[in-house]
Amino acid sequence: MASARLRYSGKVTVVTGGSRGIGRGVVKVFVQNGAKVVFCANEAGAGKALEAELNEVGPGSCLFVLCDMAKEEDIKRLITVTVEQFGQIDCLVNNVGWHPPHKPTDETTTEEFKDLLNLNLISYFLASKFALPYLRQTQGNIINVASLVASIGQKHAAPYVATKGAIVSMTKAMAVDESRYNVRVNCISPGNVMTPLWEELAGQTPDALATIKEGENAQLMGRMGTEEESGLMALFLAADATFCTGIDLLLSGGAELNYAFKRQKGISL
Ligand SMILES: NC(=O)c1ccc[n+]([C@@H]2O[C@H](COP(=O)([O-])OP(=O)(O)OC[C@H]3O[C@@H](n4cnc5c(N)ncnc54)[C@H](O)[C@@H]3O)[C@@H](O)[C@H]2O)c1
Repeated sequence: MASARLRYSGKVTVVTGGSRGIGRGVVKVFVQNGAKVVFCANEAGAGKALEAELNEVGPGSCLFVLCDMAKEEDIKRLITVTVEQFGQIDCLVNNVGWHPPHKPTDETTTEEFKDLLNLNLISYFLASKFALPYLRQTQGNIINVASLVASIGQKHAAPYVATKGAIVSMTKAMAVDESRYNVRVNCISPGNVMTPLWEELAGQTPDALATIKEGENAQLMGRMGTEEESGLMALFLAADATFCTGIDLLLSGGAELNYAFKRQKGISL
Protein backbone atom coordinates (compact mmCIF):
# COMPACT_ATOMS: atom_id res chain seq x y z
CA MET A 1 0.00 0.00 0.00
CA ALA A 2 1.42 3.43 -0.88
CA SER A 3 2.10 5.50 2.24
CA ALA A 4 0.12 8.45 0.83
CA ARG A 5 -3.07 6.44 1.35
CA LEU A 6 -2.31 5.69 4.98
CA ARG A 7 -4.07 7.96 7.44
CA TYR A 8 -1.92 7.45 10.56
CA SER A 9 1.45 6.45 9.19
CA GLY A 10 4.24 6.02 11.76
CA LYS A 11 2.09 7.33 14.62
CA VAL A 12 2.72 5.54 17.90
CA THR A 13 -0.58 4.53 19.47
CA VAL A 14 -1.29 2.76 22.75
CA VAL A 15 -4.54 0.80 23.00
CA THR A 16 -5.70 -0.65 26.31
CA GLY A 17 -7.68 -3.90 26.17
CA GLY A 18 -6.86 -4.60 22.53
CA SER A 19 -6.93 -8.38 22.20
CA ARG A 20 -10.61 -8.60 21.29
CA GLY A 21 -13.75 -6.56 20.75
CA ILE A 22 -13.69 -2.81 20.20
CA GLY A 23 -10.01 -2.58 21.17
CA ARG A 24 -9.12 -5.19 18.55
CA GLY A 25 -11.03 -3.13 15.96
CA VAL A 26 -8.95 -0.08 16.88
CA VAL A 27 -5.65 -2.00 16.77
CA LYS A 28 -6.49 -3.46 13.34
CA VAL A 29 -7.64 -0.23 11.71
CA PHE A 30 -4.64 1.70 13.07
CA VAL A 31 -2.16 -0.94 11.85
CA GLN A 32 -3.92 -0.98 8.47
CA ASN A 33 -3.32 2.78 8.37
CA GLY A 34 0.38 2.58 9.09
CA ALA A 35 0.46 3.17 12.85
CA LYS A 36 2.85 1.51 15.29
CA VAL A 37 0.46 0.16 17.88
CA VAL A 38 1.25 -1.08 21.37
CA PHE A 39 -1.74 -2.88 22.84
CA CYS A 40 -2.37 -4.73 26.06
CA ALA A 41 -4.72 -7.29 27.55
CA ASN A 42 -4.72 -9.58 30.54
CA GLU A 43 -4.90 -12.66 28.31
CA ALA A 44 -1.67 -13.67 26.56
CA GLY A 45 -2.99 -16.13 23.96
CA ALA A 46 -5.37 -13.87 22.06
CA GLY A 47 -2.98 -10.91 22.34
CA LYS A 48 -0.01 -12.81 20.93
CA ALA A 49 -2.13 -14.32 18.15
CA LEU A 50 -3.45 -10.90 17.07
CA GLU A 51 0.07 -9.44 17.18
CA ALA A 52 1.36 -12.18 14.84
CA GLU A 53 -1.67 -11.92 12.50
CA LEU A 54 -1.41 -8.15 12.04
CA ASN A 55 2.39 -7.97 11.77
CA GLU A 56 2.18 -10.47 8.93
CA VAL A 57 0.06 -8.07 6.87
CA GLY A 58 1.08 -4.55 7.99
CA PRO A 59 1.63 -1.95 6.66
CA GLY A 60 1.96 -0.65 10.23
CA SER A 61 3.01 -2.88 13.10
CA CYS A 62 1.92 -3.86 16.58
CA LEU A 63 3.37 -5.04 19.84
CA PHE A 64 1.42 -6.91 22.48
CA VAL A 65 2.11 -6.30 26.18
CA LEU A 66 0.53 -8.54 28.80
CA CYS A 67 -0.81 -6.42 31.63
CA ASP A 68 -3.59 -6.06 34.14
CA MET A 69 -5.04 -2.58 33.75
CA ALA A 70 -6.40 -2.81 37.29
CA LYS A 71 -2.79 -2.50 38.52
CA GLU A 72 -1.01 0.84 38.55
CA GLU A 73 2.47 -0.67 38.09
CA ASP A 74 1.28 -2.56 34.98
CA ILE A 75 -0.19 0.64 33.50
CA LYS A 76 3.10 2.44 34.12
CA ARG A 77 5.00 -0.42 32.47
CA LEU A 78 2.76 -0.27 29.37
CA ILE A 79 3.71 3.35 28.83
CA THR A 80 7.39 2.77 29.64
CA VAL A 81 7.64 -0.15 27.20
CA THR A 82 6.04 1.97 24.47
CA VAL A 83 8.50 4.82 24.92
CA GLU A 84 11.48 2.45 25.17
CA GLN A 85 10.47 0.75 21.92
CA PHE A 86 9.32 3.72 19.86
CA GLY A 87 10.58 6.89 21.61
CA GLN A 88 7.26 8.73 21.48
CA ILE A 89 3.48 8.49 21.92
CA ASP A 90 1.05 10.17 19.51
CA CYS A 91 -2.22 8.66 20.65
CA LEU A 92 -3.63 6.84 23.67
CA VAL A 93 -6.87 4.89 23.26
CA ASN A 94 -8.31 4.06 26.68
CA ASN A 95 -10.66 1.21 25.87
CA VAL A 96 -10.36 -1.44 28.56
CA GLY A 97 -13.57 -2.05 30.45
CA TRP A 98 -15.98 -4.59 31.78
CA HIS A 99 -19.74 -4.72 32.12
CA PRO A 100 -20.78 -6.85 35.10
CA PRO A 101 -23.90 -9.01 34.88
CA HIS A 102 -27.01 -6.85 35.35
CA LYS A 103 -28.27 -6.67 38.93
CA PRO A 104 -30.06 -4.19 41.17
CA THR A 105 -28.25 -1.70 43.39
CA ASP A 106 -29.40 -3.54 46.53
CA GLU A 107 -27.41 -6.60 45.46
CA THR A 108 -24.22 -4.75 44.55
CA THR A 109 -21.39 -4.71 47.09
CA THR A 110 -19.00 -1.86 47.81
CA GLU A 111 -16.09 -3.99 46.64
CA GLU A 112 -17.78 -4.75 43.32
CA PHE A 113 -18.37 -1.05 42.66
CA LYS A 114 -14.81 -0.10 43.70
CA ASP A 115 -13.24 -2.82 41.51
CA LEU A 116 -15.25 -1.66 38.52
CA LEU A 117 -14.30 1.98 39.12
CA ASN A 118 -10.70 0.90 39.30
CA LEU A 119 -10.74 -0.91 35.94
CA ASN A 120 -13.19 1.23 33.95
CA LEU A 121 -12.26 4.70 35.22
CA ILE A 122 -9.05 4.89 37.27
CA SER A 123 -7.13 2.95 34.58
CA TYR A 124 -8.11 5.67 32.04
CA PHE A 125 -6.92 8.35 34.44
CA LEU A 126 -3.61 6.62 35.18
CA ALA A 127 -2.80 5.68 31.57
CA SER A 128 -3.49 9.32 30.63
CA LYS A 129 -1.38 10.61 33.51
CA PHE A 130 1.63 8.46 32.54
CA ALA A 131 1.25 9.11 28.78
CA LEU A 132 0.62 12.86 28.94
CA PRO A 133 4.27 13.96 29.25
CA TYR A 134 4.91 12.20 25.90
CA LEU A 135 1.62 13.25 24.28
CA ARG A 136 2.49 16.88 25.04
CA GLN A 137 5.77 16.49 23.13
CA THR A 138 3.98 15.23 20.00
CA GLN A 139 0.83 17.35 20.45
CA GLY A 140 -0.99 14.06 20.38
CA ASN A 141 -4.43 12.98 21.52
CA ILE A 142 -6.36 10.77 23.90
CA ILE A 143 -9.47 8.82 22.94
CA ASN A 144 -11.58 7.43 25.78
CA VAL A 145 -14.16 4.72 25.15
CA ALA A 146 -17.22 5.63 27.23
CA SER A 147 -20.75 4.39 26.42
CA LEU A 148 -24.12 5.60 25.20
CA VAL A 149 -25.56 4.49 28.56
CA ALA A 150 -23.65 7.37 30.17
CA SER A 151 -26.37 9.64 28.74
CA ILE A 152 -29.43 7.37 28.51
CA GLY A 153 -28.95 5.08 31.52
CA GLN A 154 -29.37 1.31 31.67
CA LYS A 155 -31.38 -1.06 33.79
CA HIS A 156 -29.65 -2.80 36.70
CA ALA A 157 -26.25 -1.37 35.83
CA ALA A 158 -25.79 1.68 38.07
CA PRO A 159 -22.06 1.13 38.78
CA TYR A 160 -21.23 0.53 35.09
CA VAL A 161 -23.24 3.56 33.96
CA ALA A 162 -21.55 5.66 36.65
CA THR A 163 -18.07 4.69 35.44
CA LYS A 164 -19.01 5.60 31.86
CA GLY A 165 -20.57 8.94 32.83
CA ALA A 166 -17.41 9.76 34.73
CA ILE A 167 -15.32 8.99 31.64
CA VAL A 168 -17.30 11.53 29.59
CA SER A 169 -16.87 14.16 32.33
CA MET A 170 -13.18 13.41 32.80
CA THR A 171 -12.66 13.69 29.03
CA LYS A 172 -13.98 17.25 29.09
CA ALA A 173 -11.96 18.21 32.17
CA MET A 174 -8.72 16.87 30.65
CA ALA A 175 -9.51 18.54 27.31
CA VAL A 176 -9.60 21.86 29.20
CA ASP A 177 -6.32 21.21 31.04
CA GLU A 178 -4.41 19.86 28.05
CA SER A 179 -5.51 22.44 25.48
CA ARG A 180 -2.53 24.61 26.44
CA TYR A 181 -0.26 21.81 25.21
CA ASN A 182 -2.33 21.20 22.04
CA VAL A 183 -3.23 17.73 23.28
CA ARG A 184 -6.79 16.83 22.27
CA VAL A 185 -8.91 14.63 24.53
CA ASN A 186 -12.11 13.14 23.10
CA CYS A 187 -14.39 10.22 23.73
CA ILE A 188 -16.50 7.71 21.84
CA SER A 189 -19.80 6.46 23.22
CA PRO A 190 -20.72 3.16 21.61
CA GLY A 191 -24.25 1.83 21.80
CA ASN A 192 -24.42 -1.88 20.94
CA VAL A 193 -21.32 -3.21 19.25
CA MET A 194 -21.08 -6.96 18.74
CA THR A 195 -18.07 -8.09 20.77
CA PRO A 196 -17.13 -11.04 23.00
CA LEU A 197 -18.31 -8.98 26.00
CA TRP A 198 -21.75 -8.48 24.45
CA GLU A 199 -21.98 -12.20 23.65
CA GLU A 200 -20.90 -13.05 27.19
CA LEU A 201 -23.65 -10.87 28.68
CA ALA A 202 -26.25 -12.32 26.29
CA GLY A 203 -25.09 -15.79 27.33
CA GLN A 204 -26.15 -15.01 30.90
CA THR A 205 -29.79 -14.44 29.86
CA PRO A 206 -32.36 -17.25 29.45
CA ASP A 207 -32.40 -16.92 25.63
CA ALA A 208 -29.11 -15.60 24.27
CA LEU A 209 -30.27 -15.45 20.63
CA ALA A 210 -33.41 -13.50 21.54
CA THR A 211 -31.29 -11.09 23.62
CA ILE A 212 -28.95 -10.52 20.68
CA LYS A 213 -31.95 -9.89 18.37
CA GLU A 214 -33.30 -7.36 20.89
CA GLY A 215 -29.86 -5.76 20.98
CA GLU A 216 -29.90 -5.44 17.20
CA ASN A 217 -33.39 -3.99 17.17
CA ALA A 218 -32.44 -1.30 19.68
CA GLN A 219 -30.78 0.63 16.83
CA LEU A 220 -32.63 2.55 14.12
CA MET A 221 -30.25 0.78 11.77
CA GLY A 222 -31.49 -2.63 12.93
CA ARG A 223 -28.06 -4.08 13.61
CA MET A 224 -25.17 -3.75 15.99
CA GLY A 225 -22.01 -1.83 15.23
CA THR A 226 -18.84 -3.69 14.30
CA GLU A 227 -15.32 -3.74 15.69
CA GLU A 228 -14.09 -2.20 12.43
CA GLU A 229 -16.59 0.69 12.63
CA SER A 230 -15.31 1.35 16.15
CA GLY A 231 -11.74 1.43 14.88
CA LEU A 232 -12.69 3.79 12.06
CA MET A 233 -14.31 6.22 14.47
CA ALA A 234 -11.21 6.23 16.65
CA LEU A 235 -9.09 6.81 13.54
CA PHE A 236 -11.29 9.77 12.61
CA LEU A 237 -10.72 11.35 16.03
CA ALA A 238 -6.97 10.64 15.94
CA ALA A 239 -6.21 11.57 12.33
CA ASP A 240 -8.89 13.91 11.03
CA ALA A 241 -10.69 15.64 13.92
CA THR A 242 -7.92 18.18 14.47
CA PHE A 243 -10.34 20.93 15.56
CA CYS A 244 -12.22 18.73 18.05
CA THR A 245 -11.45 18.43 21.72
CA GLY A 246 -13.67 17.46 24.64
CA ILE A 247 -16.30 15.94 22.35
CA ASP A 248 -18.28 12.75 22.82
CA LEU A 249 -19.01 10.98 19.53
CA LEU A 250 -21.98 8.61 19.51
CA LEU A 251 -21.36 5.31 17.75
CA SER A 252 -24.90 4.12 18.19
CA GLY A 253 -26.80 3.52 14.94
CA GLY A 254 -29.48 5.90 16.24
CA ALA A 255 -30.23 3.89 19.40
CA GLU A 256 -30.93 7.06 21.39
CA LEU A 257 -33.62 8.37 18.99
CA ASN A 258 -37.41 8.06 18.77
CA TYR A 259 -38.37 7.36 22.40
CA ALA A 260 -36.81 3.89 22.26
CA PHE A 261 -39.18 2.57 19.56
CA LYS A 262 -36.94 1.33 16.79
CA ARG A 263 -37.87 -1.84 14.95
CA GLN A 264 -40.39 -4.50 15.73
CA LYS A 265 -40.24 -8.05 14.42
CA GLY A 266 -37.42 -7.03 12.13
CA ILE A 267 -39.61 -4.50 10.25
CA SER A 268 -38.02 -1.13 9.82
CA LEU A 269 -39.96 2.00 10.83
N1 LIG B 1 -19.58 -3.81 23.15
C1 LIG B 1 -20.41 -2.83 23.38
O1 LIG B 1 -21.57 -2.86 22.94
C2 LIG B 1 -19.97 -1.62 24.17
C3 LIG B 1 -20.88 -0.55 24.30
C4 LIG B 1 -20.49 0.57 25.00
C5 LIG B 1 -19.22 0.65 25.55
N2 LIG B 1 -18.37 -0.40 25.42
C6 LIG B 1 -17.04 -0.26 26.03
O2 LIG B 1 -16.05 -0.59 25.07
C7 LIG B 1 -14.90 -1.12 25.74
C8 LIG B 1 -14.54 -2.46 25.12
O3 LIG B 1 -15.65 -3.33 25.24
P1 LIG B 1 -15.76 -4.70 24.44
O4 LIG B 1 -17.21 -4.97 24.27
O5 LIG B 1 -14.87 -4.66 23.27
O6 LIG B 1 -15.18 -5.71 25.56
P2 LIG B 1 -14.45 -7.13 25.42
O7 LIG B 1 -14.61 -7.80 26.74
O8 LIG B 1 -14.93 -7.84 24.22
O9 LIG B 1 -12.91 -6.73 25.25
C9 LIG B 1 -12.25 -6.13 26.34
C10 LIG B 1 -10.75 -6.13 26.16
O10 LIG B 1 -10.16 -5.68 27.39
C11 LIG B 1 -9.24 -6.67 27.88
N3 LIG B 1 -9.25 -6.65 29.35
C12 LIG B 1 -10.27 -6.95 30.18
N4 LIG B 1 -9.89 -6.81 31.46
C13 LIG B 1 -8.60 -6.41 31.44
C14 LIG B 1 -7.64 -6.08 32.45
N5 LIG B 1 -7.92 -6.16 33.75
N6 LIG B 1 -6.41 -5.69 32.05
C15 LIG B 1 -6.08 -5.62 30.72
N7 LIG B 1 -6.95 -5.92 29.74
C16 LIG B 1 -8.19 -6.31 30.10
C17 LIG B 1 -9.72 -7.97 27.29
O11 LIG B 1 -8.69 -8.92 27.27
C18 LIG B 1 -10.15 -7.51 25.90
O12 LIG B 1 -9.03 -7.36 25.07
C19 LIG B 1 -15.26 -1.20 27.22
O13 LIG B 1 -14.77 -0.06 27.88
C20 LIG B 1 -16.78 -1.19 27.20
O14 LIG B 1 -17.32 -0.69 28.39
C21 LIG B 1 -18.71 -1.54 24.75
